[in-house]
Amino acid sequence: MIAARGTACRRAVAIASRSSRLNAAHRIVTPCVNHIRSASTETADGNVPIKSHRKPGTPLTEAQRKFLDSALRVNQAGELAATLIYTAQTPPIVKAHPHLQPLMKHMYDQEAGHFKTFNGLLAKHRIRPTALYPVWQAAATVLGWTTGMMGKEAAMACTEAVETEIGNHYNSQVRELFKWMTDLKERGEELDPELAVLIEDVKRIRDEELEHLDHAVEHDAKEAQPYEPLTKVIQYGCKGAIWISERV
Ligand SMILES: [Fe+2]
Ligand SMILES: [Fe+2]
Repeated sequence: MIAARGTACRRAVAIASRSSRLNAAHRIVTPCVNHIRSASTETADGNVPIKSHRKPGTPLTEAQRKFLDSALRVNQAGELAATLIYTAQTPPIVKAHPHLQPLMKHMYDQEAGHFKTFNGLLAKHRIRPTALYPVWQAAATVLGWTTGMMGKEAAMACTEAVETEIGNHYNSQVRELFKWMTDLKERGEELDPELAVLIEDVKRIRDEELEHLDHAVEHDAKEAQPYEPLTKVIQYGCKGAIWISERV
């Protein structure tokens, strides 16, 4: 999805448009990258040389594009769920504990920002949302409403459990993206600016999720009854939702 630009990109597009062998399976990533890859394939076949068209920004491999495709799809689904959990939790929690209104709003606003970020990335790179989008919508609303009605401690335990899983999820993405960046540097190749921005976005969002986790613990998440079964069920639910959304 990370695209080469300018003349290189335009020429690659022109080359690719002459080719009848564009691979439709690559439509989920930025068109420019697809064209570069198609043109590169032509070179391998000995038809169209485009040797110097890799900078700035080295095109992603097929495996890297697949990784980003599923990672961004999961991120969007997770952020959708987070906004809906807070939407459902906020009325009963704020009614019982009015002083928590600013905190609930703060966490919701950050989740809405995360959701907007990944919506934009999916649209920009033509990545489809998870097919189970409506299921996660319903599940998140039920989870938020249930834990909100159970009380402040249960709502905070829900946040603690969700953010533990999501924090780990974002951490693994940051590690993978850093590995790509390190490999590129070792080969003397250029990191595409879009990839650099993505790494910073994921790091910032990860840090905000961990901030939510801290808020939840500070506001008596561990006092929830029954704490262990509740948090375990939510954590396993998150793991399952991530696993499914990566694939479907
Ligand atoms: Fe979030
Ligand atoms: Fe969060």
